[in-house]
Amino acid sequence: MYEETGNRNDMARLILVCGPTGAGKTTYALSLCKEIGAIRFSIDPWMQTLFSKDMTSLDYSWMMERVNRCYEQIWQVSEQVLALNGSVVLDLGFTTKAQRGVFFAHANKINLHPELHYLDASKDIRKTRIKKRNLEKDPSVYSFEVTDTMFHFMEPKFEVPDQVELSHGCKVNT
Ligand SMILES: Nc1ncnc2c1ncn2[C@@H]1O[C@H](COP(=O)(O)OP(=O)(O)OP(=O)(O)O)[C@@H](O)[C@H]1O
Ligand SMILES: [Mg+2]
Repeated sequence: MYEETGNRNDMARLILVCGPTGAGKTTYALSLCKEIGAIRFSIDPWMQTLFSKDMTSLDYSWMMERVNRCYEQIWQVSEQVLALNGSVVLDLGFTTKAQRGVFFAHANKINLHPELHYLDASKDIRKTRIKKRNLEKDPSVYSFEVTDTMFHFMEPKFEVPDQVELSHGCKVNT
């Protein structure tokens, strides 16, 4: 007879992973998915597969417009997974409070309370990790080269989550 064990029938979880460049978001998302049995969406391979061939220069607003299109589609699938009581981990950059807010609002509409997992490490550590990742090109975490210029461009854009955002979540020092 089927026996209920462990987390199998627990409530579906929706987890948003955020943090600055190289904080370890994708690494963390991969291991969390394994641990809790969740579906993962990571934005970098989506952008790489769908749009890298169409990119003529590094244009941030061009990219963000397409990131937002991916967000829409990723949410549509996430919603179906959550409706089936599956858990979803979103590794979608979530640089700004507004981006996170979009997904909080989506989740609230279906009566889910998403968790925000905020990852952080010092700038020096993150820079070293990115350099290493550029060399190793491990496909589980590497989608494209992140140059020094890109790293420094993104640095001031990251908005640290506030207490309200983290009220249902946690900070992880990586
Ligand atoms: N806790 C950790 N300790 C040491 N190395 C780590 C840790 N987490 C991730 N790394 C390594 O650091 C590099 C960057 O990690 P990862 O790709 O997961 O970061 P990210 O936050 O997803 O980066 P990005 O902002 O570019 O998406 C990878 O090579 C990974 O193997
Ligand atoms: Mg990543």
